[in-house]
Amino acid sequence: MAIAKRTFDVVVVGAGGSGMRAALQLAEAGLKVAVLSKVFPTRSHTVAAQGGIAASLGNINEDNWHWHMYDTVKGSDYLGDQDAIEFMCRAAPEVVYELEHYGMPFDRLESGKIYQRPFGGHMQDYGKVPVQRACAAADRTGHALLHTLYQQNVKANTNFFVEWMALDLVRDQDGDVLGVTAMEIETGEVMMFHARATLLATGGAGRIFQSSTNAFINTGDGLGMAARAGIPLEDMEFFQFHPTGVYGAGVLITEGVRGEGGYLLNKHGERFMEKYAPNAKDLASRDVVSRAMTIEIKEGRGCGEHGDHIMLKLDHLGDDVIKQRLPGIREIALKFAHVDPAKAPIPVVPTAHYMMGGIPTNYRGQVVAPCKTAPEEVVQGLYAVGECACVSVHGGNRLGCNSLLDLLVFGREAGRQIIKDLQRNPHHKPLPADAATRPLERLARLENQKNGERVGEVGAQMRQVMQTHCGVFRFPDLLVAGVAQIKQVAARVAQTEIQDKSRVFNTARVEALELDNLIEVAQATMIAAQARQESRGAHARDDFTARDDVNWLKHSLYFRENYRLDYKPVRLKPLTVDSFPLKARVY
Ligand code: FUM
Repeated sequence: MAIAKRTFDVVVVGAGGSGMRAALQLAEAGLKVAVLSKVFPTRSHTVAAQGGIAASLGNINEDNWHWHMYDTVKGSDYLGDQDAIEFMCRAAPEVVYELEHYGMPFDRLESGKIYQRPFGGHMQDYGKVPVQRACAAADRTGHALLHTLYQQNVKANTNFFVEWMALDLVRDQDGDVLGVTAMEIETGEVMMFHARATLLATGGAGRIFQSSTNAFINTGDGLGMAARAGIPLEDMEFFQFHPTGVYGAGVLITEGVRGEGGYLLNKHGERFMEKYAPNAKDLASRDVVSRAMTIEIKEGRGCGEHGDHIMLKLDHLGDDVIKQRLPGIREIALKFAHVDPAKAPIPVVPTAHYMMGGIPTNYRGQVVAPCKTAPEEVVQGLYAVGECACVSVHGGNRLGCNSLLDLLVFGREAGRQIIKDLQRNPHHKPLPADAATRPLERLARLENQKNGERVGEVGAQMRQVMQTHCGVFRFPDLLVAGVAQIKQVAARVAQTEIQDKSRVFNTARVEALELDNLIEVAQATMIAAQARQESRGAHARDDFTARDDVNWLKHSLYFRENYRLDYKPVRLKPLTVDSFPLKARVY
């Protein structure tokens, strides 16, 4: 079947912070840029980021990028690549000031400088005491950031394709990526976006779990597309559980609450974090806090009728601080937990939040994958940034506020790299004859499937398997059963049927296509988790409780074909400074 084609210099898939930062760089350079987004750009999930952007501006306490780098390496449990971490932490002040000049409405100090708050794992002087490093716009930093970048993109003439869903990458016989196929959600029309560079910026996949802080759109679309195109996924076993999702609803309560002085309590009213992290306490790294909460609940010190949650107390901050610094949290607490946080604590539980793994890239945003002749080679024409990419700056565990930083630094850098690469490649390569075969076959299957299961039911089963078998703590028997069960769910995904085949906004079709992507992420996560026999960062095994640097200081690579796993070394050498040596990680 012939489909319509549009030609651009660059196609960016995803209009969150990383996609829009990259698109801005490219459009300002005069390139013809298409940005495809399933939702209106300012509704992308970056809009939900609350606490801030990490950057060592030192506006309140003394700070520098080397301390930030140390915290990030330590936070990653030494799995982060130190060249990329140095690159990110050094660039942080510059990307924040750049944003300020674009018009981002940061909160201000009396002096007029940007307001900064403490966040988990960010410390002064190589881990000594918490530092105020998170540059914040109240508790709506992502909202302010996304609107700023959108306005700048409009000014730079970026072409937005709103409510378009990318389906598959186009790869030729040389392995080069030449664009994507995509579907207009409203009409179901499929179109080819032929491009000299394709940038995946599709965000996370928190929706593989039942309880998640992620938006419903976070369905791992870029990862599914990459996996189907033969590209491995890196470090997928590392999934972050944010300590404070609203109990029963999953909605995020920013760590900024603890940064402003809030703290966690068990049913006895004890500040239990003092026991687990005597120095940083409630501002320890997220994996540490989530595990502590889970242990408190498991050992019978959880709160409420069922003893299944923890309380986040912030009433002592006072109404004024809450209204000025945490207005969004106040609204969320009122709406989703039915409590006024100025009067009562918020019930919270650890909730799936962030995928540290993703599509393997270098710190220029180029996708790198093993090929026949080399252990690692740049995939020509393909780039990835933001949560869907694994640079890897977050390693086994990401520090709060390093995600907005990641998307600004690497969004800009990928833009710069693409501009350079396109100077060397001025012409579009011809599309292969089978460029649209895979997505059209996927759509045809959905049209023709008879007596299949409902997409919603199979998706619910996937989420239940992931939640039960691959949570904060991972147990050997549950992981083995989880691998078998998630493969069974995948077989069912391939047989689903969409009940509503009408073309009224295509919601059923979109949900089915999203499940194709989610199941790729779920399988990669479960299989990589079962294989890694150690505890590191967010991957906490009940049977291998210690970090094992002798055998497991390496990145995993999951290949969809035959569920194959491979490993590659961690880049321990930074760009210009000495490496941070491995040591026990205590807070
Ligand atoms: O807690 C938060 O505000 C989340 C921030 C982050 O994930 O970086």
